[in-house]
Amino acid sequence: MEQYRIRGGNRLQGALKLQGAKNSALPILAAALLPGGVSEIHNCPQLSDTRRTLDILEHLGCGVSREGDVVTVDPSGAYRWEVPAPLVRSMRSSIIFLGAMVARFGRARLTYPGGCELGPRPIDLHLCALRQMAVQVEETGGDLWCTAPQGLCGARIVLLFPSVGATENILLAAATARGVTRVTNAAREPEIVDLADYLIRRGAKISGAGEGELTVEGVPRLCGAAHRIMGDRIAAATYLAAAAATGGSLSLCGAAPGTLAAVLPVLEKAGCQIETAGQTIALRAPERLRPLGVVRTMPYPGFPTDAQAPFLALSLLARGSSVFVENIFESRYKHVAELRRMGGRVEVEGRVAVAEGLGQLHSADVAATELRGGAALVLAALAAQGESRVSGAGYIDRGYEKFEDSLLSLGAEIQRMPWDEKAE
Ligand code: EPZ
Repeated sequence: MEQYRIRGGNRLQGALKLQGAKNSALPILAAALLPGGVSEIHNCPQLSDTRRTLDILEHLGCGVSREGDVVTVDPSGAYRWEVPAPLVRSMRSSIIFLGAMVARFGRARLTYPGGCELGPRPIDLHLCALRQMAVQVEETGGDLWCTAPQGLCGARIVLLFPSVGATENILLAAATARGVTRVTNAAREPEIVDLADYLIRRGAKISGAGEGELTVEGVPRLCGAAHRIMGDRIAAATYLAAAAATGGSLSLCGAAPGTLAAVLPVLEKAGCQIETAGQTIALRAPERLRPLGVVRTMPYPGFPTDAQAPFLALSLLARGSSVFVENIFESRYKHVAELRRMGGRVEVEGRVAVAEGLGQLHSADVAATELRGGAALVLAALAAQGESRVSGAGYIDRGYEKFEDSLLSLGAEIQRMPWDEKAE
């Protein structure tokens, strides 16, 4: 897997157009499998995860094409109802195809998506909800076999945790199910609203998206539609944190400030000046960053877990202690060991990390092992004195479109290069 070579110390300055949201694109592309018409998805980011999702759609028999940021999916030719293990293993979020395949074919088979760097990643909430919608689920030898011999039925579902993926699978299964599905404690993330907006354009009858109570009245058939994916709020948080960490200034367009309502105040607490107008967010960093206070990750509208790693890296450039509480995933501090190699002082105790900011970091060779932790290491290297190398660029490709080009356009000294074992 390739690596980045980064010479830190430059202030990031300039303007950036924000990519489309990865975590909207993946469920919307899976929903394009639902029959009834062609989907034209605009602002679809070019990422390894969207590429893998398109590979799955093609494997299932859909017609798929891309022109720039517009992806067209024709589901009419779909005939396969299973996702092969290598494709599931390459991207665990392919679990989102479960609801769409059962809705389309009345059956589905996919390998149990394993855990990952963030923890075991169970899918019990997905399966419990689908069983309530008359899906029979068998788990044999690591494979999930789902059948709905009488078709999908609407149900009254209470999610024990507002799981994003489970809420999305329910939406995809309920859109064309018989009867009404009501979900209590549904996830409220903006990506859920984006998915619902896309399904409503296709003729689905959905109300309450973005609220805790979600209602779907099943319709016999959907139609085709065009939809523009929202801006990626996590990529926005990452670039804003990078500008703050390097003492720079950034104008980010294509971001809905409302989707960052829990993030922007943390940047202001650190001393950044933030101005928002329409779909633009402008940040100016202070000469000296202040600690971030206590950052607790929570389901939306709380502080997003996906921004925890970049913001923990940012906190090390402030003078003073910041506290992070990771309430969503069991082990989402894998980036801490690597940040310590750059001089970061962080103590982790279970879900709590205390970052003692010394106002600076030094360069080091570090390894990314997952998407957001990798972005945090690049951010730290951009702010550190000296030349660092961050291996595992492929993890970052999963969620950040044209990552190095974007940073180069802001004045970063970053180069992508093959991983050189000898240099280790
Ligand atoms: C989505 O993952 C996102 N991925 C994640 O982004 C994000 O971190 C997460 O939501 C939380 O916001 C995509 O949208 C593709 P969850 P998902 O189901 O759906 C537990 C990134 O970096 N849980 O809300 O898997 C689970 O273990 C990625 O872009 C169950 O216990 O998240 C976790 O602790 C990383 N049983 C918590 O809920 C279940 O059946 C949140 O999971 C499902 C989940």
